Amino acid sequence: MKKICVSQPATTRKQIEAVVAVLESGQLVEGPVVSRLEQSLADYCEAKGVVAMNSGTAALHGALYAAGIKPGDEVITTPFSFVATANPILFMGAKVVFADINPLDYNLDPKAVEKKITKKTKAIIGVDLYGQPINYKNLRFDRSITLIEDACQAIGSSLKGKKAGTLADIGAFSFYATKNIMCGEGGAMVTNNPEFDLRARRFRNHGQDVSKRYQYVDVGYNYRLTDILAAILLPQIKEIDKITQARQVRAQRYQKNLGQLTSIGLPMLNRDTIHSFHQFTITLQDSFPVSREKLISILNERNIFPGTYYPTPLHLQPQFKKFGYRLGDFPVTERLSQKVLSLPVHPKITLAEIDYVSEVLLEVSKIK
Ligand SMILES: Cc1ncc(COP(=O)(O)O)c(C=O)c1O
Repeated sequence: MKKICVSQPATTRKQIEAVVAVLESGQLVEGPVVSRLEQSLADYCEAKGVVAMNSGTAALHGALYAAGIKPGDEVITTPFSFVATANPILFMGAKVVFADINPLDYNLDPKAVEKKITKKTKAIIGVDLYGQPINYKNLRFDRSITLIEDACQAIGSSLKGKKAGTLADIGAFSFYATKNIMCGEGGAMVTNNPEFDLRARRFRNHGQDVSKRYQYVDVGYNYRLTDILAAILLPQIKEIDKITQARQVRAQRYQKNLGQLTSIGLPMLNRDTIHSFHQFTITLQDSFPVSREKLISILNERNIFPGTYYPTPLHLQPQFKKFGYRLGDFPVTERLSQKVLSLPVHPKITLAEIDYVSEVLLEVSKIK
């Protein structure tokens, strides 16, 4: 029986041909395909500027650099995310200040954020976790604080018709292999602010003046995206809405199959939101009869391979614990990190397979 996995990266013949065309063109890096990709993504997001980079981590780093974060500044973010949300804050020499999340949608709780604001707060990074966008208006406490949207999981989602990535002052996308659209490794920073755009463009290319080669006006990295990878990504921009719809159909099937089960919490949909369902994440309630580990082993025996995002909150990782964080600091995050489980929801999964996964869950929920 085929393995039903939480993600299944796939490439088409068209993408393979596009890669071959780049290889034959002789221009492999920051050439015409990267430019076309930036324009196409800017059109899709209705954003003024898109700066392609070689990962979502680079895009977040570029966002903090563009925002002018300096050593000693404080940046507030969530402990319930992938480590790449927080590490770039440390790269800037700034302090990571965690705030707890909201138990309904797993995103930053504005009240918890407000309590962490000090005179040193210079930015807030919200994460549109699993593909559910945050209402960044609720995080706008002070105009001098730059709002950054970690939309690495959220391409295709939107709030009140505004696309994820454009909901804050700066957004970051990831095109890592398992993302809704992907090229193996890649990312992009999105902004409507021309100053942020210019700074990020320099930053990704060693601080080089954008119109003068070998003229370096600032510090920078090599965060350039190759045309080889851009060629894989470009045709997918047109497919984003189709991919989102395919994920939504599968999410609705889970909702229908599991909706009556009180021992499992299903993803909550915020109002006026299009959720991209990068993950379909359930929460095992205390009444669920077996532990998450036991459930995962039963699912694995039946050829189902879910994901756990994330089993250890960031503040309890050695990397951040050394700054004085302790167990008990963020109770909502700590509880959910023990209870969440992401079920396969990508477009390669058939509805019959979703029904099969649901049946196994219903069966396990009845264990005495
Ligand atoms: C929430 C979040 N932030 C940041 C990243 C980092 O992106 P990348 O792996 O492309 O560097 C990812 C994805 O991996 C992510 O899921």
